[in-house]
Amino acid sequence: MTLQNRVVVITGATGGLGSQLTRELAIRGAQLALLGRDAARLEALTASLSVPKERILSCVVDLLDPSETRRAAQDIAARFGRIEILLHLVGGWTGGKTLVEASADDLTFMLNQHVWTSFHVVQAFIPYLVKNGWGRVVMVSSPYAARPRAKSGPYAIAKAGQEALLLTLSQELQGTGVTANLVQVKTIDLQREKVNLPTPQNAFWSTPEELSAAILYLLSEEAGSVNGARLPLYGSY
Ligand SMILES: NC(=O)c1ccc[n+]([C@@H]2O[C@H](COP(=O)([O-])OP(=O)(O)OC[C@H]3O[C@@H](n4cnc5c(N)ncnc54)[C@H](OP(=O)(O)O)[C@@H]3O)[C@@H](O)[C@H]2O)c1
Repeated sequence: MTLQNRVVVITGATGGLGSQLTRELAIRGAQLALLGRDAARLEALTASLSVPKERILSCVVDLLDPSETRRAAQDIAARFGRIEILLHLVGGWTGGKTLVEASADDLTFMLNQHVWTSFHVVQAFIPYLVKNGWGRVVMVSSPYAARPRAKSGPYAIAKAGQEALLLTLSQELQGTGVTANLVQVKTIDLQREKVNLPTPQNAFWSTPEELSAAILYLLSEEAGSVNGARLPLYGSY
């Protein structure tokens, strides 16, 4: 498997999973476009990598704004000449309230983070991937999308919407050489608690390294016939 010189867009690059995948892809020689809203956090991430300047581009962009998102795609394509991989790793969570208690703002926040950002990146980036005749799209969802729990309604509704969006995309990409897949995770175990402080609750969490390994497979040549998959990384719970 080689990702050498692949042009990879990572949204949510400064997040827990985004920064892990950024490091993995940098080691593998990919050309990186790192997206986020906070210039200082992007700068710190870029500075922490040993990647020559010509192989990396930071884009400060609010993915809730469709024209800013399109402009970022144009800038990345102009800089690297193409866009081949889209890792959409923007997250966010709200919960702890029943549907009766939740506010409209709670639902709007979740739909913004999971559905609207996904819609905007698909509209802005997919035409570039299709133009290559080769591409990979990966988003990260949750078991709650299909099996919601009490007091997680806005999150579950939004993740279900994001899954429907990605699965629709996978159908529309058939025959283009571009695949679109989902990885499902219960909780990203940033502190490696399931190893250091194991409990029945954290047994089904996934470390960033476990998630990276699954996503790197989906980006590979070898996964070219995997399209529209929802890869569950949470065991049973
Ligand atoms: N964390 C978990 O336990 C968990 C569980 C299941 C699924 N997931 C999914 O896994 C993926 C990665 O999760 P994560 O916890 O690493 O994500 P995260 O830290 O919540 O978000 C990643 C980054 O996205 C950026 N972002 C947020 N809104 C944005 C916007 N409107 N425009 C541009 N950038 C924006 C933020 O960076 P800036 O503030 O710098 O812009 C944030 O640091 C997400 O899709 C998440 O839903 C996570």
